[in-house]
Amino acid sequence: MTQPYQDPALPLDQRVGDLLARMTPEEKAGQLVQSFAAVDDEAGLLQAARDGRLGSRILGTSNLAGSGSERAVTVQSIAALHHAGRASRLGIPVLTGRDVIHGHRTVFAIPLAQAATWDPLLAEAAAGVAALEARAEGVHWTFSPMVDVCRDPRWGRVIEGGGEDARLAGAMGAACVRGYQGGDPAALRDGRHLLACIKHFAGYGAPVGGRDYNTCEISPTTLHNHYLPAYRAGVEAGAWSVMSGFHDLDGESASGSARLLSGVLKGDWGFRGFVVSDWGSIGHLVNHRLAADRREAARQALAAGVDLDMCSGCYAEHALELVQAGEIPRQRLDDAAGRILAAKFAAGLFEGAAPDPAAAAAVQLLPSSRALARSIATRSAVLLKNRGGLLPLPRVGVSIALLGPYIDARRDQLGSWTLDGRAEETATIAEGIAAAVPGIRLVKAAGIEDASRTLQNADLAVVVVGEPFQRTGENSCVADIVLPAGEEELLRRVLSHGKPTVLVVCAGRPLAIPTTADAILWAWHGGSEAANGLADVLFGAVEPGGRLPITIPRCTGQIPIHYNRNSTGQPPAANGGWYADISDQPLFPFGFGLGYTTWEYRELQIEAIPGGARVSCLVANSGRRRGATVAQCYLQDRVAAITRPVRELAAWTRVELDPGATQRVSFVLGGAELGFRDRDGRFRLEPGRFAVWVGGDSLAALGGEFSLA
Ligand code: NOJ
Repeated sequence: MTQPYQDPALPLDQRVGDLLARMTPEEKAGQLVQSFAAVDDEAGLLQAARDGRLGSRILGTSNLAGSGSERAVTVQSIAALHHAGRASRLGIPVLTGRDVIHGHRTVFAIPLAQAATWDPLLAEAAAGVAALEARAEGVHWTFSPMVDVCRDPRWGRVIEGGGEDARLAGAMGAACVRGYQGGDPAALRDGRHLLACIKHFAGYGAPVGGRDYNTCEISPTTLHNHYLPAYRAGVEAGAWSVMSGFHDLDGESASGSARLLSGVLKGDWGFRGFVVSDWGSIGHLVNHRLAADRREAARQALAAGVDLDMCSGCYAEHALELVQAGEIPRQRLDDAAGRILAAKFAAGLFEGAAPDPAAAAAVQLLPSSRALARSIATRSAVLLKNRGGLLPLPRVGVSIALLGPYIDARRDQLGSWTLDGRAEETATIAEGIAAAVPGIRLVKAAGIEDASRTLQNADLAVVVVGEPFQRTGENSCVADIVLPAGEEELLRRVLSHGKPTVLVVCAGRPLAIPTTADAILWAWHGGSEAANGLADVLFGAVEPGGRLPITIPRCTGQIPIHYNRNSTGQPPAANGGWYADISDQPLFPFGFGLGYTTWEYRELQIEAIPGGARVSCLVANSGRRRGATVAQCYLQDRVAAITRPVRELAAWTRVELDPGATQRVSFVLGGAELGFRDRDGRFRLEPGRFAVWVGGDSLAALGGEFSLA
């Protein structure tokens, strides 16, 4: 006979309530446990699933999965676990999670690069492809998107987020949630979608010194105005899970903070999904010396609001006993288990069949998925310099020297956190160029030794520098944001030959690069189609569409140098600048990026509307080629109760025009853009004056003012 919880037609709450009423405390505590894909312990996992002691499994072998080489998903083992869960007393399936971060078998450009498109629809589409591929293999849940705002490019995980601005990072993260989970609740049950996870709550992107896992120092007003909004955007997009971070913030561990988890997230924001710890982070309460032992760590985390324990084992050892001892209320156990079960119902786990290898294989790396990856590679590439219009390069009549350590690389194109993309399914840059421009005369040299000889017979040079993928991602921080050893020397050697030179940077973070080449193109780690997309851009099949989602500093010592710093007393300009030894200005500002045409902004109009203003201006394609740009609108609150940024991004829109054409773009600025949060997180919308600018980057000059009554 079908029990109410087995009836997909009933509302979620009813199914959860009915199932909880049938479960023993042991079974409830079992739902709170996640184990990893331990190499030798497949049998143990299956037994735990059959016994009702396993809520979830992560397909990964360590918390550093993203920087290493992981075993591919095996559909068979997921299927076996599915059957084991279904064979448990109440038939509760195991939730299978995997770090599907910027694609699955089809790898898209790293998330920071995706943010450079400033186009949430592209991120949504990429997440949709990742969901299709991963879900077909039996994965139910991804630990993505990461929406940690980052102002320090030394931190290796800057690659995984949306950059330094919470509004942009939040918009990209929310788009990923929609892409993974599908547009409406029913989509999650269609076998083509994944549960999403917003991470790492909260403020993990601000580790002191850019050192991963370090203490994060964030003042309350900065937390509320510059960090929390990105997580909130993901939660409001409907993410079913949130991951609590490894770090400590203001004297608490993020994975033991009742203030953040129960107060802000589940309380103020009304989050109905479940909180998963980061890998082992409950046990880390002992390392932080906030708990004397693992039992106390489990108590603090569970009481604070962490529902699922990723791999620390603390809940497996102590959750039940803490409830039996009365140290954790029974309702809290029900609440935690209920939240996890609700996600399982929502994602259709109780009705879904085990994954089928043939069906899974049929949806990997589809031509349409590759085409999307290629398009994102071009749309994320940021053109930073183009002296004399060197780019795009001619397709005929020239001989090109292609130089640098990454021209024959495959794996580096995919970037960090690529667990399922395959290097052998990725073209090298040399192959990409040869395929895009058949008959091209290309001479190659990887190292500096061969550079001069190679250049002798070439008309121009393309030098590819950047970072190997292992120098980015988790636990891959750098103390100095310069190119790896030898790469600047290579560029100098090439430039000494006096040939027109394009510098291509394939990197996962802002790097203080020399700006001496004639053209500079920032191509990031562009994914499965990085090389083909790069060739499209270099030879002008399309223009590079990216705009910087993060400031590029001149040197490490300028960090932090985010564009949205607060207004200070003694403004730097009045004092002859911040530094005696270097400019105040970054190498390239937030929002910056060129295309193959030029743009003008004029005729700003500001119209008062109830609760805000409508700001508009004319955008003109003043060049000779059809193109697209990102028109950006920045705000400054003239006087406020707390110090506010000199400028902050309020809105943006993409404009595509023929040469000579103009378009009026308009931005509606209301409470969400004009208000701010005080030290206690209370929203305030103050009447008064606001300055506004519209243009192509954060230094936009076309400006005006308006009043909010
Ligand atoms: C640790 C990372 O911080 C987190 O982002 C990731 O999802 C987990 N490991 C699982 O691999």
